[in-house]
Amino acid sequence: MATALITGGNDGIGRALADTYLDRGYQVVVVGRNRGKGQAFLDAAARHGAADRARFLQADLSLVTENDRALAWVAQTYPSIDVLVLGARYHRSNRVETMEGFENNFALYYLSRFLFSHGLVESLSRAPHPVILNFGGAGQTGPVRWDDLQLRRNYPGTGALGHSAKLCDLLGVSFTQIYHDTPIRYVLNHPGVVTTSFAGEYDEATAAQVAMLKSVGKTTAQAVAEILPYLDEPPARLTAVLEGKRIPTNTAAFDPEEAVRLHEITQKLLADLSR
Ligand SMILES: NC(=O)c1ccc[n+]([C@@H]2O[C@H](COP(=O)([O-])OP(=O)(O)OC[C@H]3O[C@@H](n4cnc5c(N)ncnc54)[C@H](OP(=O)(O)O)[C@@H]3O)[C@@H](O)[C@H]2O)c1
Repeated sequence: MATALITGGNDGIGRALADTYLDRGYQVVVVGRNRGKGQAFLDAAARHGAADRARFLQADLSLVTENDRALAWVAQTYPSIDVLVLGARYHRSNRVETMEGFENNFALYYLSRFLFSHGLVESLSRAPHPVILNFGGAGQTGPVRWDDLQLRRNYPGTGALGHSAKLCDLLGVSFTQIYHDTPIRYVLNHPGVVTTSFAGEYDEATAAQVAMLKSVGKTTAQAVAEILPYLDEPPARLTAVLEGKRIPTNTAAFDPEEAVRLHEITQKLLADLSR
């Protein structure tokens, strides 16, 4: 049976994708922190007669140790992964560090996606047509703050998400270079404004902006319809999609040298973390 693993799959676009893959007969594992939302996913699956194919894994993916635990469980439980969706995010208006010393967005939006992408290569490679969906910037965000990846100076508020999204674009570039001899396809998607929970802790001004975005955003069903064709038949090893439209990846936004540089920095950061 095909398997989809979805971080941030208990809410928003991730949840809509989880429901879609359940409808298609997949085993679906969603990862998030909130047990209530996880149970809501399991209850909905049971109502549709799919209880035996739905799993909720509770994990705080802003922590490297929790990513390690989740990945070990997945590798032990599922021999192969067909679809990996990287969608967990949590916005913070103010800079917060995890107990491991990483800026929170960097940890959750980038580092966790790095760990899941690289950590599941073996499981993905066992599937006939494996694909990773990473909600990156699709070339719309950046530049990288190379001298301040942890955003210590002039923390940019909502811009912190955009910065991590840019790092995810570069992750897609280096990943597809490193694993060019595997069947894994990597899709970077910027969905545009979508009405979701916008999980986060916002200051007053940002909260007002988020409320406005929620009132004008597309539905999660629309967002899923725009991205599914690229997951079903990824047109290239690396594909970038902006609101349903493919955009070129041979541009400065997807610079292979920057991608290598980020990969090496990330490896060092992880090596320096005793775990
Ligand atoms: N919505 C938009 O307008 C929009 C625009 C551009 C890009 N995107 C991107 O699309 C993706 C999905 O966004 P969304 O709006 O659908 O998300 P969302 O509704 O805000 O949901 C966020 C998800 O992340 C999970 N999460 C948050 N912190 C976590 C943690 N520490 N550990 C594990 N899981 C955690 C949440 O689960 P818990 O509540 O259980 O923690 C939830 O499932 C994200 O990458 C986002 O940046 C969205």
